[in-house]
Amino acid sequence: MKIVVVGLQWGDEGKGKVVSHFSRKFDWIVRYSGGSNAGHTVHMDGKKYVNHLLPCVDPRGKSKGYLGPGMVLNLERLVNEIESLERIFPGISKRFYLDLNATLVLSWHIVEDELIENMRMNPIGTTKNGIGPAYKDKVSRDGIKLYHLFDESSLSSKLEELYHLKTRFFGENLEKPESLKRRLLEDLEKLGTMGVKFTTTMDMRKEFEGSKILFEGSQGVLLDVNFGTYPYVTSSSCTSWGIFEGFQFLKIDETIGVFKAYVTRVGNGPFPTEMEDQLEDTIRRKGMEYGATTGRPRRIGWLDLPALRYSIISSNVSELVLTKADVLNGLDRLKICTQYEVEGELKEIPTTPEDFEKAKPVYREIDGWKDLKDGKFEEFVRMVETELRIKINYVSYGPGSDEIFER
Ligand code: GDP
Ligand code: IMO
Ligand code: MG
Repeated sequence: MKIVVVGLQWGDEGKGKVVSHFSRKFDWIVRYSGGSNAGHTVHMDGKKYVNHLLPCVDPRGKSKGYLGPGMVLNLERLVNEIESLERIFPGISKRFYLDLNATLVLSWHIVEDELIENMRMNPIGTTKNGIGPAYKDKVSRDGIKLYHLFDESSLSSKLEELYHLKTRFFGENLEKPESLKRRLLEDLEKLGTMGVKFTTTMDMRKEFEGSKILFEGSQGVLLDVNFGTYPYVTSSSCTSWGIFEGFQFLKIDETIGVFKAYVTRVGNGPFPTEMEDQLEDTIRRKGMEYGATTGRPRRIGWLDLPALRYSIISSNVSELVLTKADVLNGLDRLKICTQYEVEGELKEIPTTPEDFEKAKPVYREIDGWKDLKDGKFEEFVRMVETELRIKINYVSYGPGSDEIFER
């Protein structure tokens, strides 16, 4: 069994919670894209933790976590993240495997992210985790891969060359290659001492073919570099497609799409159903809609069905999980966007990223619900299923990893 979980909106749909809920049934939980820009919150047995790089394995089970070749890894953050998880769940470090083909996020990338963002006339609102610059270097063939750390002399010359390039663009204030190399090798050693394993998907092919795997998407389809609201996106593949970077030999059985009963977005860019009234503030506080990575207040909008239809197609989604409808409990009336009006034309499904910029949402107003046992909630769920022509199999009703029911 191979399942992919993807976020269908602009991230923060509750993927971490959903993955942690199902994780015990799987041998492997695999992160396949992104880096520490992600923030996946898990509430389990009264403990709360946020995974930025680590897959959301259930610490009470036996599943192992794999950080795939499509990821960008900041080793210092990874060490800190494993150390803090180890303090809550002793012994867990040994269950994590790193792919040697993953690209490293260096201190230079973080400086570059900040500088470029500050220079842009229209900033993207990145998490300033160095994600874009690291992927840029990977694609321009200047990246440092995890396997490069295992050959010290070639690592030195690669870092020298990259430093030479970077200082031409970003000035002399960058960390010196010698210091960067020393820190990278220290972090590598710490990871080894913790029992973290280093391998590749080629080496793991047989193991993966015979295992139950849950792929944990990061961000959301609308932040995908190809399908999202470009250029206000992240730099990686957030759709189910992303698994083809490394895991293309596996046959996927199902893609589960996770979506919230409303939408949120951190950072800039088009957001057709954005709320402009006081309700935004109420929902933000009730849903605790503050970035799990940067703490920034998330922008809030009404449920956007055209965007969901677009994401479902882009990721070939076969079933849905609805989250955070409990946050809307007690609202008298709510709005749902059923179509976009784009330059006078009504569209059920946006066809280009530009449509999101030009879209005027067409709303349907419905009655709210007292709680999720209220018949009005079931009416809402059925309406969404009919509109999307796909089943909502699970409803999450709170942050706890067990707070989810099957319909
Ligand atoms: P992710 O990036 O998709 O993993 O989502 P985040 O962790 O960034 O944001 C989701 C937030 O909502 C977290 O604080 C979760 O604990 C919380 N959450 C997840 N599902 C639910 C739900 O069904 N109801 C409520 N009230 N909170 C939820
Ligand atoms: P999870 O996995 C929400 C957003 C940033 C910014 C844009 C580009 O927790 O859902 P980047 O730092 O990636 O270059 O920023 O993407 N962004 C996210 N928004 N959830 C995330 O991850 C995000 N990861 C990146 O806010 O708008
Ligand atoms: Mg998040």
